[in-house]
Amino acid sequence: MRIDILTLFPGMFGEVLDSSILGRAQANNLLSIHVWNIRGFAEDKHRSVDDIPYGGGPGMVMKPDVAVACIEHVKEFNPGKVIYLTPQGTVFDQAKAESLAKEQSLVLLCGHYEGIDQRIRDGWVDDEISIGDYVLTGGELPAMVVVDAIARLIPGVLGDQASACEDSFVNGLLEYPQYTRPSQYRGRKVPQVLLSGNHELIRKWRLKEALRITLTRRPDLLKKRPLTEEEQHLLQEVMLEECDERR
Ligand code: ADE
Repeated sequence: MRIDILTLFPGMFGEVLDSSILGRAQANNLLSIHVWNIRGFAEDKHRSVDDIPYGGGPGMVMKPDVAVACIEHVKEFNPGKVIYLTPQGTVFDQAKAESLAKEQSLVLLCGHYEGIDQRIRDGWVDDEISIGDYVLTGGELPAMVVVDAIARLIPGVLGDQASACEDSFVNGLLEYPQYTRPSQYRGRKVPQVLLSGNHELIRKWRLKEALRITLTRRPDLLKKRPLTEEEQHLLQEVMLEECDERR
């Protein structure tokens, strides 16, 4: 997959994109990321990229001529959808990450300050994404979040593909708790069932704990998801246990 990122702050991306799993994905040619400096497409002598808003108000607005010159140049190499990162976009989630991971290429446009001229959005942007209901100083961190969430879904990027299947949200539940050695640490024991070697009991325990954490932290997810008979039964047990706990 090819991803081009258009930004006024290309220096923000280096370490994040070149480290760890994203770095390895690029080294293995599963992913290629190209970061472009929008300012490089400014033509006036001050290389200005923004101007005051028509109608007044605070802040500066990204100029259409500069941003569009950058987008059109990048489109010569990358025919993918142009996605603008903005708090006004539709909220990013795992389902959106899964659908974007199927694309061959994507272009991510990062805004700054008060935003970008609406004509850029009307004429050159295909989709708008927010990473949550809070306002950041620019689209750079959101672009990194989106790239990371997509990249790990590309086949071969995670060493162990199974680990993406067990993720939180993949089956509509938060992930169950994980433990590793030692089996006792400062008086805290790993649940006995995980040491039992009984795969069926372990599967059941994990499902029950996934239901427990989803019920307590994200009951909204449970409302959205049909439950199997086994899950309904385990959820009943969890509810009773949680009631006892509170007494
Ligand atoms: N730019 C500023 N805040 C943002 C957010 N929450 N999501 C995406 N882009 C943004």
